Amino acid sequence: MGILDDKVAIVTGGGRGLGRAHCLALAEAGAAVVVNDLGAGVHGERTGDSPADDVVAEITKLGGRAVANHASVGDWGATETMIADTVAEFGRLDVVVNNAGIVRDRMLFSMTEAEFDAVIAVHLKGTFALTRHACAYWREAAKRGERVAGRIINTTSGTGLFGNQGQSNYGAAKAGIAGLTILTALEMRRYGVTANAISPIAATRMTEGLEVGAELEAGAGGFDPRDPANASGVVVYLACDDASWLTGQVLRIEGNRLGRLQGWTVSGVYPSRSGEALTPEELIDAVPVLYGAAPAGRATGVGQ
Ligand SMILES: NC(=O)c1ccc[n+]([C@@H]2O[C@H](COP(=O)([O-])OP(=O)(O)OC[C@H]3O[C@@H](n4cnc5c(N)ncnc54)[C@H](O)[C@@H]3O)[C@@H](O)[C@H]2O)c1
Repeated sequence: MGILDDKVAIVTGGGRGLGRAHCLALAEAGAAVVVNDLGAGVHGERTGDSPADDVVAEITKLGGRAVANHASVGDWGATETMIADTVAEFGRLDVVVNNAGIVRDRMLFSMTEAEFDAVIAVHLKGTFALTRHACAYWREAAKRGERVAGRIINTTSGTGLFGNQGQSNYGAAKAGIAGLTILTALEMRRYGVTANAISPIAATRMTEGLEVGAELEAGAGGFDPRDPANASGVVVYLACDDASWLTGQVLRIEGNRLGRLQGWTVSGVYPSRSGEALTPEELIDAVPVLYGAAPAGRATGVGQ
């Protein structure tokens, strides 16, 4: 018995890297898996490859159940069809793992409109599109009186949560996904659907040649802290029935450690002395109290 027996999952971008690892782990835990991947290059260019079929073959060889889907997650109609096809193939849908991704890095002052739009389309719109259609399906099922245990598992990133130079398009999309996760959790709780996001670190095509995760130490016994599969146990956990109470969270996976992330919090308050709205003059004193001392001479701007 696997902890996901009888569950049906869709994994976007499931042909490579983190998505492939999630597909294999979900299938090993007993889920039937729809492996979505359109076979894009790291910048979103078409390659003619079909990694989704390769992963389906791997799962089938291991005795699991899987089918391929080659749609782009940025395609509104195709994501709606993906839900319908999944239900037609396996009879139900329980888990959506929004993982597909591309990068088009550039400093923001040089970034083109096309570079910004392409990254937002795959990450933010793609995550929204599949989530929206899955949630409509679960809401209908709940209204029919069926027991729903829906799971949205999104993929955010340290870039979106903490920042990273040269990735304003990607970071904006990933921060948007973290926010979308909270909103999905709020709106779907009443229908039996949870929404959480993972923030993984892994050696994949996307991070090739970068220092991502270089600070993570290799463990005893050859443990690889940048193995994409390190994040997949968390995905399987979030998909299972035991995780039905956890929603609206962002979980950070650093090698063999799970980090609980907390979002924006008010960490200091300065009430105006007059009881009226804070004036710019009063803020000259108030802001350093909240944010720490102003730089010497209150200089502003580089080179001043
Ligand atoms: N690797 C890391 O350290 C890291 C860190 C934080 C977040 N992430 C996120 O994890 C996810 C997976 O990244 P990865 O590192 O495995 O990259 P990857 O390039 O190995 O895999 C991404 C997959 O997404 C697919 N894809 C791209 N555009 C698609 C589209 N429009 N529709 C369907 N599939 C599409 C690609 O074909 C590819 O197989 C991404 O969302 C990425 O932003 C990765």
